[in-house]
Amino acid sequence: MKGCAAFVASALATLTSAACPPRVQEAQNRTFHWGTLGAGKLPKFLRNNPLPGGTPWGNINPKTVNPRIPPTTGVTRKYDFTISRGSLAPDGYLKESGILINGQFPGPTIEANWGDMIEVKVTNQITAPDEGTALHWHGLFQNGSAWYDGVPSVSQCPIAPGASFTYKFQAGVFGTSWYHSHYSAQAAGGLFGPLVVYGPSHVDYDEDIGPVMLTDWFHKDYFQIVKNVMSNNSTLWANPSDNTLINGRMPYNCSQVTDGTPCGDAPYAKFRFQTGKTYKLRLINAGAAGMEYFSIDGQTLQIVANDLTDIEPYNTTVVTLSVGQRSDVLFTPKAVNGTKAIWMRTLQSGKFCQRASNPAGRAIVLLDGASDNTIPKTTAYPAPVDDGTCKNDPLELSVPFYEEELPAPSTTIQITVNTIVNATGHQLYTMNGSPFMANYNNPLLGLAYQKNYSYPTQWNTYNFGSNSSVRVVIWNNSSGPHPMHIHGHDMYVLYDGNDKWDGSTVVNPSNPPRRDTHNLRPHGWMVMQYNLDNPGVWPFHCHIAWHLSMGMYVNLMENPADIDQSVIPSMMAQTCDAWNQYSSTHVVEQIDSGV
Ligand code: C2O
Ligand code: CU
Repeated sequence: MKGCAAFVASALATLTSAACPPRVQEAQNRTFHWGTLGAGKLPKFLRNNPLPGGTPWGNINPKTVNPRIPPTTGVTRKYDFTISRGSLAPDGYLKESGILINGQFPGPTIEANWGDMIEVKVTNQITAPDEGTALHWHGLFQNGSAWYDGVPSVSQCPIAPGASFTYKFQAGVFGTSWYHSHYSAQAAGGLFGPLVVYGPSHVDYDEDIGPVMLTDWFHKDYFQIVKNVMSNNSTLWANPSDNTLINGRMPYNCSQVTDGTPCGDAPYAKFRFQTGKTYKLRLINAGAAGMEYFSIDGQTLQIVANDLTDIEPYNTTVVTLSVGQRSDVLFTPKAVNGTKAIWMRTLQSGKFCQRASNPAGRAIVLLDGASDNTIPKTTAYPAPVDDGTCKNDPLELSVPFYEEELPAPSTTIQITVNTIVNATGHQLYTMNGSPFMANYNNPLLGLAYQKNYSYPTQWNTYNFGSNSSVRVVIWNNSSGPHPMHIHGHDMYVLYDGNDKWDGSTVVNPSNPPRRDTHNLRPHGWMVMQYNLDNPGVWPFHCHIAWHLSMGMYVNLMENPADIDQSVIPSMMAQTCDAWNQYSSTHVVEQIDSGV
């Protein structure tokens, strides 16, 4: 399959140009370079350091050095992002209402070494209509910089249209992550990108082929979808995605278009590997709603990290990723039945887990000298057996490489997830009976600085004060799966099941799995615990964009009196002033929870 651009260049003279409308071609050029044959590789670490040639962390043994205590490198990696609307056609279907960073989708890759500072200047040029925005750096702890967490109404006011805001925080952890808008469901409009922090490597590999982003893709404007999912007459199961992309690519079958929207040929993402070498793939589910099963036909994949935690490697053929989750995977490619063109796949599957009209995303893997335009004919592994749970891999398999014993919790709470229809007919998710609703003009952290600790009910805030470690038992009394994500921390994931937790049994207490996102089963139970070592207010929420819009979100506050007020940048107040000014002269159409 040729890309739209290639198609125009080579075949315009002989075929009708209707197969490749020029606006589709133009929009398609905005898709980023990862997943093209010219993409290049990522390095093992960035070499422009004060110590030329060497790693900033020296020669350490990752088994004995705590990955949560970064070196201080003295280096700042600077990025300049301008956010604007633009048309997109990653799959050939022209979507007029995408949201882009520096004219690209997905956004630019942020790279840093462990211990570096990352500084990102974000300018909001979203117009017609204009919207606020804020970027969140998923999985990074913001230790000592809670106000740069990027959650409007919690850590900052939204960045007003026309205004800029500079985030500055340490890459205190290493591995594969991503950043995304945390303002309404803007991320589903395209406002996200990969974030890679280089650190010591606990398993050897030859080449790092960089981010492999797996995303459901919606042809409708995110705003419209949010309105639909929140209306009472829509079911939670409505609004399936239109396509499933790998690194922003996957041809759409334009014969499915019935309303005359321009649609044309689009390329598959492509990767070239050499047999005999070992590659690292950084898998990221950056979608809005869909759980993804990733595989490469005939290949064995070794999982070496889940989220930002390196683990004892284990082999699998299918990697399961719910929204927000990442896995670093190594593989040593081999020909399949003698053929060197192979399908890479990402699949949504299962009665409760699939939310897609076209659930099977594909990309092309070429080995050695296989010609650039070969279309694979390989067969997929069977889809995982659907037991209705949408479960992650068994917790026992995820053994952190750097060992940490589970501390005794100093308090335990239970959270029940449910759905309601409110008085105005909106469908909402509740946590302990309450749907979250943001107040953009009054960030919670700002009130906490002023020692004001009492908030409206719909801010869903739990103040754990000076507890040392909090255990959270979650019961899902709804039929959807919920990838639960915590900010500012990793969580120990202690239990995951269909049955009610017995109140004591936890997985591997001498070294339980740690990660920042874990899938809660439909009608299932999950138990997690985290240590209160990061004063601030940390969101804990479902990462399905629509569920988040519907209020499935709580704030976990810890040690608020210890938040160092002396270092709060004056930009926080300026950002609120600009937002208050904007919102007093414009109608801010907050159609959802706001986050
Ligand atoms: Cu990836 Cu609260 O976010
Ligand atoms: Cu959810």
